[in-house]
Amino acid sequence: MIDGIGDSGCAAGARVVVEKPFGRDLASAQALNRAAHRVFAEPSIFRIDHYPGKEPVQNLLFFRFANAFLEPLWNRDHVEAIQVTMAEAFGVEGRGRFYEEVGAIRDVIQNHLLQVVAHLAMEPPVGEGAEALRDEKVKVFRGIRPLAASDVVRGQYAGYRDEDGVAPDSQVETFAAVRLHLDSWRWAGVPFVLRAGKRLASTATEVRVFLKRPPQQVFGEAVPPQSNYFRFGLGPDRTAIAIGARAKRSGVGMFGEDVELLVCNERGSQMGAYERLIGDAMRGDPTLFAREDGVEAAWRIVDPVLAAPAPPNPYAPGSWGPTQADAQAAACGGWRAPSQG
Ligand code: BG6
Repeated sequence: MIDGIGDSGCAAGARVVVEKPFGRDLASAQALNRAAHRVFAEPSIFRIDHYPGKEPVQNLLFFRFANAFLEPLWNRDHVEAIQVTMAEAFGVEGRGRFYEEVGAIRDVIQNHLLQVVAHLAMEPPVGEGAEALRDEKVKVFRGIRPLAASDVVRGQYAGYRDEDGVAPDSQVETFAAVRLHLDSWRWAGVPFVLRAGKRLASTATEVRVFLKRPPQQVFGEAVPPQSNYFRFGLGPDRTAIAIGARAKRSGVGMFGEDVELLVCNERGSQMGAYERLIGDAMRGDPTLFAREDGVEAAWRIVDPVLAAPAPPNPYAPGSWGPTQADAQAAACGGWRAPSQG
């Protein structure tokens, strides 16, 4: 296809926009990159992953680096664990044939959720321009260990095999829970757990950054775990930035309760991610697009668990996925359902 553009002579001075998934594993992504480079130079290739174009995902980056108060907390000394849930209440919606070729890990974890992780884990970009931001994201991917089989739990909703275009004995996962290991000075030892699935209990994408507990129980109460956190609601309907904290309950005694300070909640008329990204491509701004090395580094993380995976665990539509996934989040107090607020 890209060769055809080259042969027709249309590539001169042009840009090409390529939709994800970019390849289906590391080797095919490398082959695609080679094919694309035979016709277009890297600055003219715009690989779309629409997640970085989403307003709340942009806000994640903005909130992190526009506020000095976050930085002292944003590391292994204060963060206990980070959890990301991308839940969809709907199924494959007539895309069974496509989905059979991908599954949840290729469809949304290798790209969308790793992009979210990059926004959470990256160092501040040094200098200006598109490459400064993209360099930092690639460093995050390079610091994530390739997944081992024990890092991943796969699931398949009951009824998936009856969908149009789906094999009656399909082993494709419609749910995946993944534990990442980040080998960086900032994040060493902090669990990053991600889960994504179709036909789950609700539709919402949410990040929770759990902070460590206070060192002493000054008020003699047993402080519940996970009282302190940052929560980022990434949509689709609710976008939110919230801080979980302990506050005193009114009354004579010094007793507390968990409260949430909702610092931002915007709905409605945000520019769509594709609208934003296609405009950027037309202007030639590659900041929010995946770069060759970033795409390959992200495939390198998931590559070991793509081939010959164990059969997926069945789960009921409307649930939170297979119970086997609970173990992935045990180190951070279990999975938290995305907030309704
Ligand atoms: C797409 C996936 O890239 O992202 C879909 O192929 C998924 O399976 C979709 O449903 C989610 O994106 P959004 O913006 O609708 O949350």
